[in-house]
Order: sequence, then structure tokens, then C-alpha cells
Amino acid sequence: MSHNPHHLLVTGAAGFIGANFVHYWLDRYPMTRVIALDALTYAGNRANLTALDDHPGFQFVHGDILDSDLIERLLREERIDTLVHFAAESHVDRSIHGPDAFLKTNIEGTHSLLKAAKKVWLDDQGVEDHRFHHVSTDEVYGTLAAADPPFSESNQYLPNSPYAASKASSDHIVRSYHHTYGLNTTISNCSNNYGPYQFPEKLIPLIIAHCLDGKSLPIYGDGKQIRDWLYVDDHNRGIDLILHNGRIDNTYNIGGNNEWTNIDIVTLICELMDEHHPAGAPHRQLISYVRDRPGHDRRYAINAGKITNELGYAPAETFETGIRKTVQWYLDNEPWWRAIMDGSYREWIEKNYA
Ligand code: NAD
Ligand code: TYD
Repeated sequence: MSHNPHHLLVTGAAGFIGANFVHYWLDRYPMTRVIALDALTYAGNRANLTALDDHPGFQFVHGDILDSDLIERLLREERIDTLVHFAAESHVDRSIHGPDAFLKTNIEGTHSLLKAAKKVWLDDQGVEDHRFHHVSTDEVYGTLAAADPPFSESNQYLPNSPYAASKASSDHIVRSYHHTYGLNTTISNCSNNYGPYQFPEKLIPLIIAHCLDGKSLPIYGDGKQIRDWLYVDDHNRGIDLILHNGRIDNTYNIGGNNEWTNIDIVTLICELMDEHHPAGAPHRQLISYVRDRPGHDRRYAINAGKITNELGYAPAETFETGIRKTVQWYLDNEPWWRAIMDGSYREWIEKNYA
């Protein structure tokens, strides 16, 4: 059963992937309407969306996914047929220091959206053609040994961090709302995204920013942990395919076929920075090994065979093109990440949304 999204509610739209998704979507489908909802937590940045303020299909709403009255009102008044749920607490290190916010936002927040969607689409209005798409992570599957096959959709859930456990829990609740109430749900579990607008607490933007400031480049543990890296718009392409043609109650893994150890990726970024922004000495001299993350997953890898075979998914970027674009974006948008680093991006948010 294919679906044609016309009126979308996108949660977490001012965050890294959400903002890229909204740009991607309105560029590709300019005649549709997007309600971009975000609570503007520390990770949400209204500036990520201001370029769209004059787009007739775009509207920003400052609000919380836990506010079910607001969500129900938006679903009803905006005649939403497609909910794309990105909003989350997303940083593993923060989940280690403060798991509460992760359980609240990722579990209760997802449930609040599901309840509102059930109420409006199923109980009140009988909207048959609707989709609730939940964006999740490969971290729900736990960690792989070097020789293990990549994660497929049938892998057991074995989350290791409070972040991963909260996402795993939300995935189960989404599934239950299909099986129990008949909500049209889909889920995607993807690997590590990279690209423009990523908050500089995550590895790739942090390393670029530290290179530019001549600060040390922290490598956790031995730096041999492996991640699969996915360019953010390739992730968005995958979600686009699922929204249109994904099978209800199905999970799709989205990956970049692109496994790197952390130390290799940091070394590569150092080489790109030497090329684009020579600093006298090679940037790799800034590398500094630091204490490992507790419970640090050793390896993630994705088998994207299902979305490839069923929906014709293929990443458009190679890592070579994606990482170059990304480094260039951070070089071209220094005021953007500097405002985050020095906290000034919040001043406008606080003034505007007081
Ligand atoms: P992010 O931290 O950059 O953005 C999250 C956004 O959600 C922020 O704008 C924040 O303000 C908003 N938000 C948080 N709590 C909210 C609430 N209660 N109500 C409304 N908005 C709220 O995260 P991201 O990297 O863009 O990740 C988006 C989604 O993708 C998350 O669900 C994450 O678990 C998933 N994911 C991310 C990656 C990755 O590599 N970044 C990989 C796999 C899955
Ligand atoms: P991160 O970007 O936080 O994503 P995730 O934990 O969701 O994979 O980290 C990517 C990898 O880089 C992870 O193995 C932890 C490591 N890392 C460092 O070595 N140093 C750092 O300063 C950061 C932020 C991450």
C-alpha cells in the first residue's frame, strides 16, 4: 500500500537530522506542507531552519512532543497525514551522565505522540491513509565483534547505553501501537549520520571545530571502535522511500556501507584540514587518547539489503564526497558552530521564545 505524504508533522525538526530532512523534503516536494515542531532543547537550533521561513509550505512550531494537547491540535488543524518522528535526546555520553531525560523524551515522548496519533487518526477521525514513521538507531542491536555479520532487521535487541535502551524501548512501543490499535507505523534504524548542522558534541563536527581552534582531538580508549557512517541526506532519501512505499509494521535498516575505526576517521579529517586549512604543523599532532566511554560499543555495521531490495535504496554519496562536503560546510559556516560553542545561539532562542 503506497502512501503520498501531503501534510507532514516533523518532530525534532531543529536538530541535526530533522533540519536536514525538512530542507531535503521541501526542496524535493515544494507543494507539500511541513509543520516543523521542536522544543529547542540545547540540541535544537532555530537557525537551522530560518532559510525556510519564507517557504509557503513551511511552518515552525515551538513545542514539546510531551504536550499531547498541542500534538492533537496540530494533527487535527493541519490535517496531518504523515508524522516523522526525530525528536530525541541523542548523545550517548550525555545519557551516561544523565539518563532521566532520555527515558522521559525518548520513551514517554514517543508514547505521547503515538497516543495523540491514535486519538486523532483512529478514534476521532478514522483517517485510513496515515503514517507514523519512527526514526531509530542501529545502537538498539548492541555491539558487534570484528567478524560478525552486520546488523539486519531480525537481529536481537541488545542495547548497552541508556540512550540505546531508551530508543529500543520506544521502538517496541511503536510496534505495539500497530499490533494493538492498528496505527500505520514504520521504523528505520540507521547508522551514524554525518553532514551539515550536526551539533559539535558528536565526533565529526567536534574534530573539525577542534582542528580549527588548535585544540586537542579526544579519542576514547584505543580508537579502534568501528562505526558505519551515513551521509545525512542519504538517510533522508531512505526515509523518503519508506514514507512512500515502506510496508506498514516494518523496520528498515539504513546504512552507508562504510565502516571506519574512529582513529582512521579522525586521521582522515586531520588530512583534509591540512589541505583546506594548513596550520603549520599537521593536525594529527593534536590527537590525544583519553579515558574510554563506559560500556563503549565496539562495532556497529548495517546490512541495508532489505531497503535496497524492496525500495531501491542506494546512497548517493561516497564517503570521499560526503566527508569533503561536510568539512567544507563547517569551514563555510564557522559562525554557526561558533555560536553553539560559545552558547550565543541560545540568546536569540531565549529572547524569541520567552
Ligand atoms: P539532535 O540531538 O541533533 O536533535 C534532536 C532534536 O529533538 C533537537 O532539535 C531537540 O531540540 C529536539 N527535541 C528534544 N526533545 C524534544 C521534545 N521533548 N519535544 C520536541 N523536540 C525535542 O538529534 P539527531 O542527531 O538529529 O537525531 C535525530 C533522530 O535520529 C533521533 O531520534 C536519534 O535517536 C536518531 N538517530 C540519530 C543518529 C545520528 O547519527 N545522529 C543515528 C541514528 C539514529
Ligand atoms: P558519537 O559521534 O558520539 O556517536 P555514537 O556514540 O552515537 O556512535 O561518537 C562516535 C564514535 O566516536 C564513538 O565510538 C565514540 C567516539 N568518540 C571519541 O572517540 N571522541 C569523542 O570526543 C567523541 C564525541 C566520540
